[in-house]
Amino acid sequence: MFLRVEHVSKHFGGVTALNDVNLTISAGEIVGLVGDNGAGKSTLVKIISGVLRADDGRMLVNDCEAAPRSPTDAALLGIQTVYQDLALCDNLDVVANMFLGNEKVSGIGPFHLRRLSEVEMEHGAREALHSLRITTLSSLRVPVGTLSGGQRQAIAIARAVTRAANLLLLDEPTAALGVAQAQTVRRLIRELKTRGIAVLLISHNLEDVFATADRITVLRLGRNVGSYPAAETTPQEIVAAMTGGREMSWLR
Ligand SMILES: Nc1ncnc2c1ncn2[C@@H]1O[C@H](COP(=O)(O)OP(=O)(O)OP(=O)(O)O)[C@@H](O)[C@H]1O
Ligand SMILES: [Mg+2]
Repeated sequence: MFLRVEHVSKHFGGVTALNDVNLTISAGEIVGLVGDNGAGKSTLVKIISGVLRADDGRMLVNDCEAAPRSPTDAALLGIQTVYQDLALCDNLDVVANMFLGNEKVSGIGPFHLRRLSEVEMEHGAREALHSLRITTLSSLRVPVGTLSGGQRQAIAIARAVTRAANLLLLDEPTAALGVAQAQTVRRLIRELKTRGIAVLLISHNLEDVFATADRITVLRLGRNVGSYPAAETTPQEIVAAMTGGREMSWLR
């Protein structure tokens, strides 16, 4: 088991975002994490990725207790994240965003004598985007603030994918994407699985979830309500779990 989240709770003032939540994910497993707005999905992702600390409970990575204090800590555990609110730097270009915090330098000696290997980074960025079939960018040297929502999403995913060693957390990765790009992301998720990388996929799009996930875990109002093998459940059952059965009448 790569990741085991046990009895995690998180409060924001008087709001209980997570209440005694458990989650497991194995190497090469794709887990869909679903739930209505405010169910606690993003909060759980932020705890796993070191952005937030849990108030209670613990997290085990490869059976060792881990409490990442920052995304950098999480990265050392091989965990990368694409956040719902994208963490791209609008004023930097595509290449700089791809290598942010991971810049390649050349030369030896004191840092000020080295220089960023711009050519190497541009080549790496181009290769990564090409391998993900992200082909709608006219230039890698434009500030990402000038790109479309879907293009920005694609860059954020490409960056995380190229760095994820063990687990990729995707919070609504296809929300801003066109049909073809959403398909590309689904294909990519399945490709990661073949490399033994685990994926936690949050999506409101059950089509995405059913097309990729091995297992679907449902949160409602900050609590676990079930975890279902994708092959043995239906969108109707998942929606019923997400809503507590409120929506069942119109599904019939
Ligand atoms: N930084 C914060 N400060 C205060 N409350 C927060 C904060 N982050 C989340 N919450 C609250 O915690 C609860 C869970 O929010 P969270 O963002 O995890 O939900 P979600 O399942 O990701 O929803 P969505 O599907 O809308 O993205 C909500 O009630 C939300 O208002
Ligand atoms: Mg969210």
